[in-house]
Amino acid sequence: MSEGQQSGRWLPWLIALICAGGAVWITFKPAEVIIPENTNKPPETKIGKMAANFTIKIEDPNDYFKGIVRPGYITLPRTNLAATLEAPEPFGTGAATCGECHADKLKGASATSHFHTSQVLTNGILSRMFEADRATMQTKQPGLTFRMYKENGRHYQAVLWKDEEVHRAPIDLIFGSGKLGFTFSYWQGEELFELPVSYLTASDSWVNSPGYPDGTALYSRPIIQDCLTCHATHASAFTDDPQSFRFKQRMIVAGITCERCHGDGRKHVAYHRTNPDASDSKFIRHPGKLERSQLNQLCSECHGGLGDETDEKPGVHSNNQIQRLAKSACFTKSGGMRCTDCHNPHQLERGNQKLFAERCQTCHQVEDCGDFKPARREQFATNCASCHMERMPLLDIAIEKDGNVVYPELVDHFIRVIKKSEN
Ligand code: HEC
Ligand code: HEC
Ligand code: HEC
Ligand code: HEC
Ligand code: HEC
Ligand code: HEC
Ligand code: HEC
Repeated sequence: MSEGQQSGRWLPWLIALICAGGAVWITFKPAEVIIPENTNKPPETKIGKMAANFTIKIEDPNDYFKGIVRPGYITLPRTNLAATLEAPEPFGTGAATCGECHADKLKGASATSHFHTSQVLTNGILSRMFEADRATMQTKQPGLTFRMYKENGRHYQAVLWKDEEVHRAPIDLIFGSGKLGFTFSYWQGEELFELPVSYLTASDSWVNSPGYPDGTALYSRPIIQDCLTCHATHASAFTDDPQSFRFKQRMIVAGITCERCHGDGRKHVAYHRTNPDASDSKFIRHPGKLERSQLNQLCSECHGGLGDETDEKPGVHSNNQIQRLAKSACFTKSGGMRCTDCHNPHQLERGNQKLFAERCQTCHQVEDCGDFKPARREQFATNCASCHMERMPLLDIAIEKDGNVVYPELVDHFIRVIKKSEN
């Protein structure tokens, strides 16, 4: 891919993320608590309106884990209306408070995809996809259509059978910054469920949510604690079970913000507020002071599926950066690398190939490249990754769309000579 194509891909993102960054300042008030309205309402379903070949089924969400997916059904979770609303458990100070003393960090980090990887649907996001001409998705089952719309300030995903709405659920919490796409979820009582339709950035269209067979309407797949462990700063479920999908009082600190990597900062903030002249810092984790493997482990909690540098166990749709990187000669012959050798977690650097190439050149010279051609110095010096880090499909994310299966792609961290360049 040429430099021009790269920046063409990257500029709209920069703008989008900066705009979204503006919203974060409102969303991330010290108490980053999301309490959607309309809680504990029964699902809005018109049961009995279905044709004979399609059936509505109320199912125990735990059945989902038994691998039961039912084509030909609209599945809804059973209701959990008995939920009690406990007072939220406090966690952390929120990113805005960190920004009072670390303004540069907050400014940079607010634009990253980490910050936006779980969020509430606000007006700026995807609004054009809710306009009438783009707001439907036809499935391969004739008569079964999804419609996305906004009503009284709330967004919904509805399933229609022969143009008549059968069931709808609101869009409450979104997963993904939109780099690859967005997956949507809704609250039913204290339980969180994934919605049937996702948005895929590569095709700029609505698609069946990953793993959802085309032609079904699943509203019963739980969003488990694991999703939030990797996609949020904090969430309290009722149990430690990673497959739990019942959360305390919807107390979720959305986005991967400061305190996901640095730990709960309340004591640190209190200390520096009472000791405004102290230049030594206390009560906060500085990952830069960790051993290499521990720092990599922090990133790999989410990017390598809890494995370490040698663990081949694949992670969840993450491309296993740590395991792949650890195979590279760069890693094995340099005594090891840190994720932060190439990535600054406080800046959105995506697509900035020149910057990444400079980081390769902390160890290599452009001339070291076996394929180096003096006449193309500029191209070689500003884009090492396009030739040495291939894009790979994420095979664990199969998305069914218009009769095809598509897989999102991510960069492979096994740095190596891939093939001889063409010209
Ligand atoms: C009242 C001011 C204040 C607030 C609020 C604050 N910090 Fe700090 N922080 C400091 C000072 C002062 C230092 C020491 C000087 C420096 O490194 O900037 C520091 C240092 C740090 C360090 C480096 C630690 C080390 O071992 O060198 C980290 C990491 C950090 N802060 C993170 C945070 C996070 C995360 C938050 C929000 C939860 C936060 N800070 C809120 C004042 C503050
Ligand atoms: C082990 C950690 C982990 C778990 C568990 C996990 N994810 Fe992810 N997810 C990631 C990482 C890491 C990425 C980013 C891949 C990248 O950009 O390299 C990602 C990417 C995504 C994206 C695309 C974001 C974008 O725009 O680029 C969506 C949507 C998503 N995850 C949803 C989910 C949902 C829903 C669940 C639960 C069913 C889940 N994830 C579970 C780590 C995880
Ligand atoms: C709590 C889980 C978690 C931790 C810890 C974490 N990440 Fe991520 N990271 C994610 C998820 C999820 C995404 C996908 C964000 C999206 O696009 O929705 C992501 C995206 C990224 C991206 C892609 C950014 C982009 O815009 O393309 C980079 C680079 C990255 N992480 C590096 C790191 C590094 C380096 C560390 C360690 C310092 C780290 N991450 C720690 C979960 C995590
Ligand atoms: C994805 C994980 C991640 C997130 C999110 C994150 N940081 Fe950091 N932070 C790190 C890592 C890793 C280092 C160590 C970097 C190094 O030394 O190379 C660091 C270092 C720091 C330092 C001390 C070093 C320095 O450069 O001054 C401060 C202060 C800090 N972070 C504040 C923040 C604040 C404030 C936020 C939120 C606005 C934040 N961080 C969000 C991972 C993160
Ligand atoms: C921490 C230092 C370091 C960094 C940073 C680094 N490398 Fe390397 N790289 C090495 C070492 C050491 C070797 C092994 C050299 C040898 O065998 O003589 C190597 C080998 C390579 C090889 C040859 C691989 C093979 O299998 O023969 C390629 C290609 C390469 N690096 C590209 C890159 C690119 C592209 C980047 C940036 C994305 C990068 N390197 C960043 C240290 C590094
Ligand atoms: C246009 C594609 C392309 C670009 C851009 C590129 N390389 Fe290469 N690189 C290659 C090819 C092809 C080879 C294998 C050459 C051979 O074996 O004849 C190679 C070989 C290497 C090697 C192994 C050399 C050896 O003798 O083992 C290193 C190290 C390397 N490149 C580093 C880099 C770095 C660093 C950059 C960016 C500054 C870079 N490359 C940019 C295509 C590229
Ligand atoms: C030698 C440099 C280097 C190291 C070390 C490195 N990365 Fe990367 N990483 C890159 C480059 C180059 C890209 C492509 C960036 C782009 O095109 O925006 C990338 C992209 C990513 C992405 C986004 C993937 C995508 O396709 O959108 C994630 C996530 C990521 N790295 C995580 C990590 C993690 C976690 C570690 C530590 C295990 C790590 N990286 C170590 C160079 C590196």
